[in-house]
Amino acid sequence: MFDVNIIRADFPILGRKVNGRPLVYFDNAATSQTPKQVIDAIVHYYSGYNANIHRGVHTLSQEATDKYEQAREKIKVHFNAAQSKEIIFTSGTTHGINLVANGYSSILKRGDEILVSAMEHHSNIVPWQMLAARTGAILKVIPMNTDGVLIMDEYEKLLSERTKLVFCNHVSNALGTINPIEKIIKKAHQVEAKVLIDGAQAAPHIKADLQALDVDFYTVSAHKMCGPTGIGILYGKEQWLNELPPYQGGGEMIAEVTFEKTTYADLPHKFEAGTPNICGGIAFGAALDYMNSIGFDDIATYENELLHYATQKLLGIEGLKIYGTAKHKTSVISFNIEGLHPYDIGTILDKLGIAVRTGHHCAQPIMDFYGIPGTVRASFAFYNMKTEIDTLVEGVRRAKDMLQ
Ligand code: ALA
Repeated sequence: MFDVNIIRADFPILGRKVNGRPLVYFDNAATSQTPKQVIDAIVHYYSGYNANIHRGVHTLSQEATDKYEQAREKIKVHFNAAQSKEIIFTSGTTHGINLVANGYSSILKRGDEILVSAMEHHSNIVPWQMLAARTGAILKVIPMNTDGVLIMDEYEKLLSERTKLVFCNHVSNALGTINPIEKIIKKAHQVEAKVLIDGAQAAPHIKADLQALDVDFYTVSAHKMCGPTGIGILYGKEQWLNELPPYQGGGEMIAEVTFEKTTYADLPHKFEAGTPNICGGIAFGAALDYMNSIGFDDIATYENELLHYATQKLLGIEGLKIYGTAKHKTSVISFNIEGLHPYDIGTILDKLGIAVRTGHHCAQPIMDFYGIPGTVRASFAFYNMKTEIDTLVEGVRRAKDMLQ
C-alpha cells in the first residue's frame, strides 16, 4: 500500500528546516531527493569495494565491475531495452544528446532536415543547432499551441523524405506536458527519420517501454529519479549505435591501439571512454530498485492527485496564471502572478522554507512564446504531501500581499 508517511521516512533531507521552517521541497523537476537506500548504496561502495572496473583481476575490481554491470542490466530491464549493450552510461541527459549530435556530424548532409519541438530544454536545442552549423542541415521547429501542446498536423506537414532526425522531450520540464511520443515516432519512421526522445522529465513519473515505443534513442538522468547527479544513460538501438563514431577517445573504448591505427571496442564500451562514474551507476541501479519497490502506477496516481489538488488551489489566487494546461501532464505547475516577477515570489517562498524554481527553466523559446521572462515552477514528487501544497498556496498569497 502506498503510504506517503512511510515513504518520507526514507528521505533524511525532508526532515530538515530551511529559514526556521520545515522544508517544503517542490523543485523535483530540477533534481529529486535521495532516499537512504541510495545513500546506503553510495556509502557501501566507497566503504566496501571502491575500485576501477573492467581492468583489475583483484577482488575489489571484480566486485565493482559486477555491481556496475548489474546496474546496467537493471536499467535495461526497467526500460525494456532489447540488450544491455544498448544502454550507454553517460554523465546525464545532456551528455547523451551531445553524443548523438556529435555522431551525426559525419552522417548528415547539407540540406538534410532535422526537426525539434517548440518545447525543448536548451540541451535538446543547442546541440542540434551546432550539428546543423557543422553539416549544413536545416533545423525546423514543430510548433505548439497556447496550452503547451504540440500541433501534430503541423508536425506531419514538416515531415518529408528530407527529414533525417526528430527530437522531442517525452515530458516538458517547463510545462509538464506529456508529449504523444508514440505517434511522433511512428510518423517519423514513415519517412525513415530517426527519433531521439529526451526522457529526463518523464523517467521519474512514467516507465517507458523502449521496445514498444520503437524509439531510436532515449536519454535519462539518474538525479531526476532518486539517484545521484553526474550519471545517466543513453539508450540507442544497436544498429544506430554501431553506425555512430565514438564520441570520446581514451581508455576502455578501444579494441587495439598502435600508433598507426586504433580499432574500437564493441558496444557499450565504444562510447564509455575513461574511468566512468562507477558509484553513480551502481547508485542509479539502487534508485530504480527503490522506485520500483514503490511502483510507478502508484507513483503516477498519487502525483496526479497532488497535481489536481495544487492546480485547483493555486487557481483560487486572483491574478495567478498557469502556463502548460495540457490534458496530459505530469506534476509540474508553472505559474505567474500578474504584475509580479517570478524571482521575487521565489525569494519570498524560500524565506518560508519552500523550494521552487524560478526563471526560464533552460527553455527560453517557451518563455518567448508566451511573452514572459520566466515563471515560478512547483514540481511535485511522490514524497510530497497535500499539506505542503497548502503551505505553498499560503506562501504565494503572502508573497502577493507583500509585493503588490
Ligand atoms: N532541467 C532541469 C530543470 O528543469 C535542471 O530544472
